[in-house]
Amino acid sequence: MPTRRTFISGSIAAGTLLATGALAAQKKPEKASRPLRILILGGTGFIGPHQVRYAVDRGHKVTMFNRGKTNPTLFPNVEHLEGDRNGKLDALENREWDAVIDNPSTLPRWVRDSAQLLKEKAGQYVFISTLSVYKDNSKVGMDESDPVATLADPTVEQITGETYGGLKALAEEEARKAFGDRATIIRPGLIVGPGDNTDRFTYWPVRIARGGDVLAPGDPNNPVQIIDARDLGEWTIRLVENRTFGTMNAIGPAGQLTMAEMLGGIRAVVPGSVPVTLHWVPADFLEAQKVAPWSDMPVWIPAEGEYAGFGRRSNQKAIAAGLTFRPLADTAQATLEFHHSRSEERRAKLRAGIAPEREAGVIAAWKSKKA
Ligand SMILES: NC(=O)c1ccc[n+]([C@@H]2O[C@H](COP(=O)([O-])OP(=O)(O)OC[C@H]3O[C@@H](n4cnc5c(N)ncnc54)[C@H](OP(=O)(O)O)[C@@H]3O)[C@@H](O)[C@H]2O)c1
Repeated sequence: MPTRRTFISGSIAAGTLLATGALAAQKKPEKASRPLRILILGGTGFIGPHQVRYAVDRGHKVTMFNRGKTNPTLFPNVEHLEGDRNGKLDALENREWDAVIDNPSTLPRWVRDSAQLLKEKAGQYVFISTLSVYKDNSKVGMDESDPVATLADPTVEQITGETYGGLKALAEEEARKAFGDRATIIRPGLIVGPGDNTDRFTYWPVRIARGGDVLAPGDPNNPVQIIDARDLGEWTIRLVENRTFGTMNAIGPAGQLTMAEMLGGIRAVVPGSVPVTLHWVPADFLEAQKVAPWSDMPVWIPAEGEYAGFGRRSNQKAIAAGLTFRPLADTAQATLEFHHSRSEERRAKLRAGIAPEREAGVIAAWKSKKA
């Protein structure tokens, strides 16, 4: 199990590797002992491609099911069935698979319809849920046995910040109803890395690469938990290979990363010609300046009060089931490479993080308060 020390030294070691371009040449995984037939519902968005690539490299026969709208040319050599989770599932009929991985579902009826259709035709149903299912974030070390959120109206179909967790909890139930003890429920926290179009973690390597005075939020020791989409995707395939069932939080690394370690680890490996100064500004000052956790300062939620357990959820079950973590350095570098592969227009407008002028204003206000 990685400790904080091995994680950080791994970050530095990977930084050295990155400098020599060695990480780019990482070996492909070995072939699995037995090729499996794996149906991936989705497959072409954020986490799906990491599963598809790893499964193909391991020698499995992958089928993707989606509408053919998102990244339709991504995997020309992988079988593609076209359909729609909103009632057009006929392409899934009269086929059999060893396992199904359901990536994009939030609505319980999406899971119900596909799981009921496939329960006699597939050996395992893996549903990608979320840590947002939990009702309560106030206690440190909460695990999979903690209660999940419920909805006042379980028939609601609008996906909002208020309904997302409750809908995912109901969707989990649909997977369990159809597949019983052959269901695997994965509850990731913030998923980061290449392919992430929310720009939440991405904001930090991009901002630090720009250099200069960087606003750093709150207590430097505030805990952070993230999961690299590649670690999540590859582990998902290993859960299928090992026929691992049950419900697991998918978050890491070992719940021991702090905000200072995250920003410092990114700074250690991100190339930049302008030196970086991190300005740590307390949470109450940021609140007074209307700087919002998570949206203005992505990844950061002050771990106190109702969020005291945020960033400190147990991942022991997942680690026991083989979840592993890349070094932060690899995640930071790969995220930046992904960012640079996007169009100039997309690069210019991040979807998360404080605007540069506001950031400069908050740092100036903090400096004058301290003076
Ligand atoms: N981002 C995070 O930090 C985070 C954290 C916790 C949990 N999660 C969960 O992680 C999952 C992320 O999934 P992802 O988007 O990365 O999955 P993905 O498999 O990479 O991409 C979404 C896929 O769903 C397909 N799709 C969308 N609408 C469809 C429809 N109506 N019918 C059939 N296929 C459809 C898309 O293709 P087409 O458009 O071509 O149909 C695409 O292939 C979600 O369940 C989310 O709740 C995310």
